[in-house]
Amino acid sequence: MTSLLPMPEKRIFSGIQPTGNLHLGNYLGAIRNWVTLQDDFESIYCVVDLHAITVAQDPQQLRQSTREVAASLIAAGISPERSVLFNQSSVPQHSQLAWVFNCIARLGWLNRMTQFKEKAGKNRENATVGLYSYPTLMAADILAYRATHVPVGEDQKQHLELTRDIAQGFNQTYGVEFFPLPEPQIFGSATRVMSLRDGNSKMSKSDASDNSRINMTDDADLIAQKIRKAKTDPDALPSESAGLEGRPEAQNLVGIFAALADSDVESVLSDFAGRGFGEFKPALAELAVAKLAPMGDRMRELLANPGDIDAVLADGALRAEEIAAPIIDQVNDIVGFLGAGSKSGPGS
Ligand code: TRP
Repeated sequence: MTSLLPMPEKRIFSGIQPTGNLHLGNYLGAIRNWVTLQDDFESIYCVVDLHAITVAQDPQQLRQSTREVAASLIAAGISPERSVLFNQSSVPQHSQLAWVFNCIARLGWLNRMTQFKEKAGKNRENATVGLYSYPTLMAADILAYRATHVPVGEDQKQHLELTRDIAQGFNQTYGVEFFPLPEPQIFGSATRVMSLRDGNSKMSKSDASDNSRINMTDDADLIAQKIRKAKTDPDALPSESAGLEGRPEAQNLVGIFAALADSDVESVLSDFAGRGFGEFKPALAELAVAKLAPMGDRMRELLANPGDIDAVLADGALRAEEIAAPIIDQVNDIVGFLGAGSKSGPGS
């Protein structure tokens, strides 16, 4: 085999499911951090439609959700020029590498995955094989680019651990130092956004009440109205964060304010100490409208021309494939596959 491709120094990869109705929780918890990362790193962002079909999907809806998520990323500030933005199924190397990883990962490793247990529920026998091997595809997403850092939330940490195990398993099996062991990129600033109707449950796209969340497509009036209607308590705001304990709704709104203002809870409280929600809510509404309404406007604009979104994703896919193809060629060669795939030179 010819020499290994040089290892990228720092390359970010992350994926997001194509679900409609992205909301403030998705924005402050993940997307906003992706936007920041592109300033400092080569960043690759992927809408994971292959992962989506591990559970039942309506094809027309899947197309729509894929475009919607791409539009929210662009509206939030992901630059399709500076970063690589594409949908997973357009780059065949993901599926190719996932198969190789299915032959590295052990049943015992996958059996430990808590997300499979949650998603499969009681009727495990009826879960798809794809849902079971979801994490090997995720490992392939990351390692098809030999990404070194992966921004993920708490819920995906176990999958990232497994990705490291797979990378190491591959390297060991074939006696190569080919794959990096990717590190989670955890954000100090990631904000856990709770429902506007119940400070104890996460803001969610599946909550029956639309007033429980601020959607990325909401316009200025709707954003202001939802904040006006948000559940609160009758007390004034405390001067320090300790005073928010046992007041989940107050904590949530102050946390949202701090995140949107690029500030922190302590300094928000030092500005609003002793004031009630009658004063705090209008200030929050004004801030939220200023930060979020332009994104909603941009999203609606983008979605009015779905062909343009498709073109942006297609261009991203070409650029993604340019990075992934030589890596997968080399994998094929390392594994011992003959043929067009092994362009990196004749193996031994
Ligand atoms: N599983 C991730 C989620 O549900 C999405 C995802 C797919 C991903 N592939 C990835 C995240 C690779 C990071 C890296 O949120």
